[in-house]
Amino acid sequence: MPFIKIDHVKKVYQGTVNCEALKEVSFNMDKGEFISIMGPSGSGKTTLLNLVSTIDTPTRGTILIDGQNPQQLKKSELAIFRRRNLGFVFQDFHLLETLTIGENIVIPLVLEGVNITEIEQKLAFTSKRLGIDKILDKRIHEVSGGQKQRAAIARAMIHSPKVLLADEPTGSLDSKASKDVMETIEQLNREDETSIMMVTHDPVAASYCSRVLFIKDGEIYNELVRGERRSVFYQSILDVLSFLGGETIDVSQARF
Ligand SMILES: Nc1ncnc2c1ncn2[C@@H]1O[C@H](COP(=O)(O)OP(=O)(O)O)[C@@H](O)[C@H]1O
Ligand SMILES: [Mg+2]
Repeated sequence: MPFIKIDHVKKVYQGTVNCEALKEVSFNMDKGEFISIMGPSGSGKTTLLNLVSTIDTPTRGTILIDGQNPQQLKKSELAIFRRRNLGFVFQDFHLLETLTIGENIVIPLVLEGVNITEIEQKLAFTSKRLGIDKILDKRIHEVSGGQKQRAAIARAMIHSPKVLLADEPTGSLDSKASKDVMETIEQLNREDETSIMMVTHDPVAASYCSRVLFIKDGEIYNELVRGERRSVFYQSILDVLSFLGGETIDVSQARF
């Protein structure tokens, strides 16, 4: 039984004009896998991630996460399922400006009613791991983009979710910060066996994962599995992207 099973999933946004964002997508994801989703703008990447996130529901088909179908849960059960099993990271961080870095990171634990001693222990452990333990008392506007994203990752990971879902996590970062963030995500994936699904248009970021799925016009177009060397994987990703076209690819060898 695969850890995540995406089975003939179709998504149509209803409106004055219906939009078929995903035609029919099927794939499996193993526990501990790190998958990137790539494809031109408008190809359905965010739609797919939102369906796995349980934020949105498929028009047809099913998504099972660890054997469970979140669509069959009641609203209150779904909120708990999401909180326990999923962690989210976004391009623009989604940190609360009025709170400190540390206060932002512990939000999931506070929502779960975890006691203060455990909260402090987990905060110390997670923030140290992500290299942000010295800035916990700082406000959001006082830290760099890379530090903000590492705080957002800490918040997503502090309750040890089974799946981390990230939509363009390096999209607002410069090349140095992107590299730091991707190395961090790769390390978490390796050490904790957290399954990760990441949407990205950055081939460098994608080269850190173990498999890339390319989507075009709401369908899976191709997939690549990483071998030993990241540099070779990166080159193969570029090759597929150049076939896919549709989007200017930001390729700077200096970043690699
Ligand atoms: N909430 C929505 N309502 C209607 N159409 C949408 C909505 N979200 C996305 N779409 C459309 O679905 C298609 C896929 O969008 P999206 O999944 O955001 O693509 P990507 O993330 O690959 O850029 C696009 O044509 C987009 O305009
Ligand atoms: Mg998108």
